Amino acid sequence: MRLMKKVAIITGSGRGIGREIAILFASEGARIVIADVNAENARRAAADITGTGGEAYGLEVDITDPAQVESLMQQTLNKCGRLDILVNNAGVGLNKPFLDTSLEEWERVVRINLTGTFLCAQSAAREMVRRGSGKIINVASISGQRGGQGRAAYGAAKAGVILLTQVMAVELAPKGISVNAIAPGPVDTDQSRETHTEATRHAYHERLPIKRYGELREIANAALFLASDESSFIAGHVLNVDGGFRAAGLMFDADDELPRRDQSSEPLRLASNAAPPAGKRRIP
Ligand SMILES: NC(=O)c1ccc[n+]([C@@H]2O[C@H](COP(=O)([O-])OP(=O)(O)OC[C@H]3O[C@@H](n4cnc5c(N)ncnc54)[C@H](O)[C@@H]3O)[C@@H](O)[C@H]2O)c1
Repeated sequence: MRLMKKVAIITGSGRGIGREIAILFASEGARIVIADVNAENARRAAADITGTGGEAYGLEVDITDPAQVESLMQQTLNKCGRLDILVNNAGVGLNKPFLDTSLEEWERVVRINLTGTFLCAQSAAREMVRRGSGKIINVASISGQRGGQGRAAYGAAKAGVILLTQVMAVELAPKGISVNAIAPGPVDTDQSRETHTEATRHAYHERLPIKRYGELREIANAALFLASDESSFIAGHVLNVDGGFRAAGLMFDADDELPRRDQSSEPLRLASNAAPPAGKRRIP
């Protein structure tokens, strides 16, 4: 048991990746606080864990509301007496071209993905600093590391999560708190079902070096590693769990012909907005 008696808050764990992290942590002995804006899902996820002999509390929390975040910390301390681990997993996606993104959409995506992470991390870290130990894991995305189409708000917010992770890691490591991030590639969840078009889905299956979507447990395993003592010398790291997406760079197969600089007056186009070869799709 790698997290025996550790107290872990996992935001957005009423469903999807967060729920899987909660179930895995509980199976490793952790006492779990499920914090989700969807009260029914939070209650159900907690019941699933207690039903198999684990300890879990489902709380309705909107992570963008500072008062609710403070109440989350207080309730955690009241119920469990301490806080060892925070996983900032709650997030929302958006697939919208830059020119069409409204201010309202921008603010909602940045507020939930980035500001919510800041609020929860700051509140948790203040408590962890008092005890001189703790682990914080932020869930970012490969979308925060490259300029994919349709990811103006989401990608910018996740890039912010990555930078925030690194600043927190530098400031908090001397106080005994380790802060790292996970950047998942595509994972089949309600969120990706809403934001990935058919073309995106097809391209991921065809183009990822590991030719499939990631599974919930594969992301949860990375979170477990970063939450456990096994990652004791790791700080400010962004762990890509992405089927090789980042390593692959431009998503062309080895047998694709690259445009050549030859007699034609066309300049060589290798930028990410270069048109893919005929019959090949680019990942939006
Ligand atoms: N699914 C993917 O392909 C993928 C890829 C990269 C990164 N991610 C990231 O992983 C995390 C989990 O994604 P998922 O696919 O499981 O999504 P999901 O939509 O299935 O789950 C997200 C959860 O967050 C909760 N939530 C949303 N707003 C909230 C708020 N204001 N306060 C509290 N809870 C809130 C939702 O109720 C939901 O339970 C997100 O941060 C997401 O951006 C997902």
